[in-house]
Amino acid sequence: MVFSMMPSVVDLWVRQTSAVLADNAGAGATLQDSVLDHVERQRWDRFADVDAARSYAAGHLLARTQIGRLLSHNPATLRFDRTCDDCGEQHGRPRLLDDPSVHLSLSRTPSLVAVALSRSGPVGVDVEPHAAASFAGYVEVALHPDDRAFDADGRRDQPSSDVTAWVRKEAALKALGVGLRVDPASVRTPSTGLSEELVAGLPRVTVVDVPVDDAYAVAVAVALGPGVVEVRQH
Ligand SMILES: CC(C)(COP(=O)(O)OP(=O)(O)OC[C@H]1O[C@@H](n2cnc3c(N)ncnc32)[C@H](O)[C@@H]1OP(=O)(O)O)[C@@H](O)C(=O)NCCC(=O)NCCS
Repeated sequence: MVFSMMPSVVDLWVRQTSAVLADNAGAGATLQDSVLDHVERQRWDRFADVDAARSYAAGHLLARTQIGRLLSHNPATLRFDRTCDDCGEQHGRPRLLDDPSVHLSLSRTPSLVAVALSRSGPVGVDVEPHAAASFAGYVEVALHPDDRAFDADGRRDQPSSDVTAWVRKEAALKALGVGLRVDPASVRTPSTGLSEELVAGLPRVTVVDVPVDDAYAVAVAVALGPGVVEVRQH
C-alpha cells in the first residue's frame, strides 16, 4: 500500500517596503486613496515612527494585492477582521471574511515586509534582521533553558545562537494565534520541518526556515497541517 501525504502549501511574498510603496505610487495612488481600508488608514496614520508607518502600509498593500489576485477580488473591497483577543481592537490576528478558508499572516520590519497565505491551515510568518539578536539579553528573552545548551567548544548550538530561533518561535506562535502572549522563552526552539506540539494543549505546528536575504531570517509555520510544508516563494 502506498501512503501519500500532501504537503501543507504556503504562498509567501517577501518584499522591500520601498518597492511595494513605489508600485503603489507607480499605479497613481497615494496612501490616502490606495486600496487600504479605513481601519488600515487610521492605524497607518497613528504611527509616530515614519519607517513603522511605511512598513505597516506596505504590508497591508501587499496582502490586499496578492489576496485580490488569488481570489480575483477587488483588493480595495476585501474585508478583514483583526479583533485582538486581549482588548478587542483591530490589531490582532487577521482573518479574511470574504473567504475564511484562506489563512494569512503578516510580518514587517522597516525594510522588508512579508505576507503568507495558506489554505492548508492557520499560518504564521516572521521576518527579523539577524542584527535583532545582538542585544545583551537576547538569550534570556528568546531561548528556553533547553535551547541554551553549549557544545564542547563552549559555543551555543545552532540555530539557537542567532535570530533563527526567534523567527521560528514567533511564526509558530502566530500560526497558533497566541503571538507573544505565550512567552517565547517557555517554548523550545522548533526544528525545521517537524510537526511538534510546542505549547501544551494547542495544536501541533510545523515550522520551516525560508532563505530570503542574507541579512534576515524568515520562518513560516502551519498549524493543524500534515507536517510537511511546501513554501512557494513569489
Ligand atoms: C503577533 C505579534 C507576535 C507580532 O509582533 P511583531 O514582531 O511586533 O510584529 P510582526 O510585524 O512580525 O507581526 C505583526 C502582525 O502580526 C499579526 N498578529 C497580531 N496579533 C496576532 C496573533 N495573536 N496571532 C497571529 N498574528 C497576529 C498582525 O497581522 C500584525 O500585523 P499588523 O500590526 O500590521 O496588523 C505580537 O504583536 C503579539 O504577540 N500580539 C498579541 C499579544 C498582544 O500584544 N496583546 C496585547 C494587545 S492589546
